[in-house]
Amino acid sequence: MFFRKPVPTFRHHTLFARFFGRPEPMLTEASARDAAALASLHGASFRRGWSEDEFERLLLDRSVLAHRATLGHRPVGFIISRIAAGEAEILSVAVARGQQGRGLARRLLDLHLRRLAGLGVRTVFLEVDDDNVAARRLYARSAFRQVGRRDGYYSRPGNASSAALVLRRDLG
Ligand SMILES: CC(C)(COP(=O)(O)OP(=O)(O)OC[C@H]1O[C@@H](n2cnc3c(N)ncnc32)[C@H](O)[C@@H]1OP(=O)(O)O)[C@@H](O)C(=O)NCCC(=O)NCCS
Repeated sequence: MFFRKPVPTFRHHTLFARFFGRPEPMLTEASARDAAALASLHGASFRRGWSEDEFERLLLDRSVLAHRATLGHRPVGFIISRIAAGEAEILSVAVARGQQGRGLARRLLDLHLRRLAGLGVRTVFLEVDDDNVAARRLYARSAFRQVGRRDGYYSRPGNASSAALVLRRDLG
């Protein structure tokens, strides 16, 4: 007699994903020990990378807050901002290419904003390249609104330059 193999149900899929699916990155506060890893992530994401020394100086600065996303011990994303007089500026956000498009930047940004609010920050600013669709969507979804524009701010070798948009988000 011929028996058909049972077709897995949605519930089986869910359990399978939970136990054998891709592991979720863990979000924690970054420290100076992450300087090398964050410099390497930054260098892979931006034309002008920041050196390990620059990261170390930032991460040792008491007015700087940074969060990292790690898979095992490997940092795969970060967000960093500087706080002054109740305002913060997000200096950089990046997610490793292989981890992009899975909501990791959103998780980092949400955690970071909650922590900034907890530290008494009322307003957050940042600059984003007008051409950076992913970053603009990230910030739009998080209720940042445009408060300024600097035309020709980002230059590209042999290409037309693009504008920097200044975005603002009020917390609390
Ligand atoms: C910008 C960046 C941090 C987003 O990281 P991510 O983890 O992929 O982002 P998420 O998965 O949380 O998605 C955030 C939004 O971006 C959108 N997005 C992600 N990748 C995208 C892509 N390649 N093209 C268009 N939109 C994209 C998502 O759809 C989402 O928008 P939605 O909620 O409206 O659907 C990442 O692309 C990156 O590291 N880029 C290089 C560094 C950089 O540009 N940093 C920002 C400087 S201001």
